[in-house]
Amino acid sequence: MSLKEQKQHAAAEAAKFIHDNMVVGLGTGSTVAHLLDMLPDMLSDLSHVKWVATSAETEIKCSDLGIITMSDVDVPIDLDIDGADEADLKGNLIKGGGGALLREKVVARNSRRVVIIVDSGKLKRDGLGDFGVPVAISPHLMTLTVRNIELLGAKCAPRGNGRYRTDDGNAIVDCHFGKISNPELLEARIKLIPGVAEVGIFHNLCNTLIVGNDMGTDIYEIERKTPGYRN
Ligand code: A5P
Repeated sequence: MSLKEQKQHAAAEAAKFIHDNMVVGLGTGSTVAHLLDMLPDMLSDLSHVKWVATSAETEIKCSDLGIITMSDVDVPIDLDIDGADEADLKGNLIKGGGGALLREKVVARNSRRVVIIVDSGKLKRDGLGDFGVPVAISPHLMTLTVRNIELLGAKCAPRGNGRYRTDDGNAIVDCHFGKISNPELLEARIKLIPGVAEVGIFHNLCNTLIVGNDMGTDIYEIERKTPGYRN
């Protein structure tokens, strides 16, 4: 089965988690795009769902499909469905390949259930890190912020030679640390650097991991200790 078909299968499996009256976060990227394509056929049974997008890209795609998204809500997000660049079986993720990591993390951390959909190539059983760690930083004094990240042991490459900007006006630096032995600690250390807006390590931020494979999907339920929405 091609990677595209694996993504489609994972997206179809994730779609089963959406029920009417929920508040649903919609992630960003090519895997989530398959889910978005499935939504119009489901909408008649989901007329009371409130949708929250994690990027302008997803917002525009939703709008094209006739789905109105909200940029703020005062109720819990019940379910967030998103892709990832890498995932492990402890619910650790690398995200930000599409630059949307800040909004993606806000949505994920405020969601009761986070469902991550990936193709089999993204499941890393021997540790995260091959993809690198996208980090969103303020463009102001960017060179010095990058230097501070490098002091943690990374080789850094500002995306688009420093000209790339996210939906929130941040730059992205792709940081390579090699294999990451302690994602929680590395996420926290990078986040402490002034100028860093968000880190593409999502430590234990997944309740359900759906991995497309040659037969269909593998579904892993993961114990999530990081908090979801508290009310
Ligand atoms: C967006 O910034 C990323 O976090 C995406 O979720 C991630 O890159 C997965 O994208 P694909 O589904 O296109 O691989």
